[in-house]
Amino acid sequence: MGENLNVIIIDKDETSRDIIKNYLSSTDNVYVSAEFFDFALAEEFIAKSGKCIVLTDVSEDYPKAVSLIKNIKTENKDAYIVALSTKPSTETIIKIMRAGAKEFLNKPVIETEFLNLINTIKSELENDEISEGCKIISTFSNKGGIGKTSIAVNLAVELAQITKEKVALLDLNLQLGDVSTFLDLNPAFAMDYIAANINNLSQEDFLNVMTRYKNTSLYVIADPLNIDKSNDITAEQIKNILSALKKSFSYIVIDIGTNIDSKTIAALDASDLILLIAIVNLPAIRSTQRCMELFNRLGYSADKVKLILNRYMENEDIKTADIEEVVKQKVYWKIPNNYLTMMSAINKGVPVEEINPEANIAINYKDFSQKISDYLITQKLNKKYNEKELKII
Ligand SMILES: Nc1ncnc2c1ncn2[C@@H]1O[C@H](COP(=O)(O)OP(=O)(O)OP(=O)(O)O)[C@@H](O)[C@H]1O
Ligand SMILES: [Mg+2]
Repeated sequence: MGENLNVIIIDKDETSRDIIKNYLSSTDNVYVSAEFFDFALAEEFIAKSGKCIVLTDVSEDYPKAVSLIKNIKTENKDAYIVALSTKPSTETIIKIMRAGAKEFLNKPVIETEFLNLINTIKSELENDEISEGCKIISTFSNKGGIGKTSIAVNLAVELAQITKEKVALLDLNLQLGDVSTFLDLNPAFAMDYIAANINNLSQEDFLNVMTRYKNTSLYVIADPLNIDKSNDITAEQIKNILSALKKSFSYIVIDIGTNIDSKTIAALDASDLILLIAIVNLPAIRSTQRCMELFNRLGYSADKVKLILNRYMENEDIKTADIEEVVKQKVYWKIPNNYLTMMSAINKGVPVEEINPEANIAINYKDFSQKISDYLITQKLNKKYNEKELKII
């Protein structure tokens, strides 16, 4: 027997509401605590409802639905929002999920699909875990000094800001990582302590031993405070840390070292998205090509690896098309070269947007992070609807 869970339905159409109530009547411990035909009335009620599932139709008034979902997200962090819609476009789904809905169901709602979802949400909420939704993004290159840390750090900060979800940033450069320097952090505990104590840490302990970045939803695990300890950390421990973090974080960003060892492979394997970082020069492109070959041998699917060009300048001698031909991968994103802003950010220990939000690189990072967040939503939807009618590229 679990605790009771309240469901709040928002739908203009009475028949739709009745169908859902009927489906829920067979579910233990799940009750409809209120039903609304109007967003404004619902909002106030949900704000005071604590842990609950909100089922909201978004097809009737889509812009209002987006603002309702955004408001619920700020007013009640424990509300699990499921959007319902008749024949939604891909763009609509992304915007709704971007606003904060965790799931999406097509109308008319199919009973088995609906009840499966309710049961999954119920166990996630009861166990305080949302592991299904957690996405792991890593930055990688087998060359040093390419921008892996800059990208991991700025992406993690932006993701926390855009999504307001909990983001974990891990430094896997176990000997002399840079993440804590880039964010001017003084960690009390780091990867060595967390790895050694992984079996004894509760979810709450985790938040206490990680280092919070200012007052944000970003939490960092820095490289070992004591370099000697870095060799004691095992690939198994890395896997366990990731599984534990998946229970309470929505995103995990990993700055992976250049070494290709079992810890690197464990992190790459666990990643939903690998950002393979290159710069436009021949040696870097050659080594990117080798990385791509390695990823192919490891059996990574095309949607898992994205090629990013860092320090990009227009009118480079080597054309983007040439790089794509050599690496056999489309360039997913280009980050402009802006040494002064980047250096100033690193020296001050802040993300680039704090140096100058109008700088090309700050704007680029914001757009990049939004694109990554949208991509992960489509990746999730693709998996879900692959065999059904909705195909998202
Ligand atoms: N877009 C950019 N424009 C200009 N300079 C950049 C850019 N991105 C990173 N840099 C600079 O490149 C250098 C290396 O960056 P960073 O430390 O992020 O790379 P890395 O791949 O993590 O290196 P390492 O292999 O040493 O960990 C830094 O001095 C940084 O300021
Ligand atoms: Mg680095």
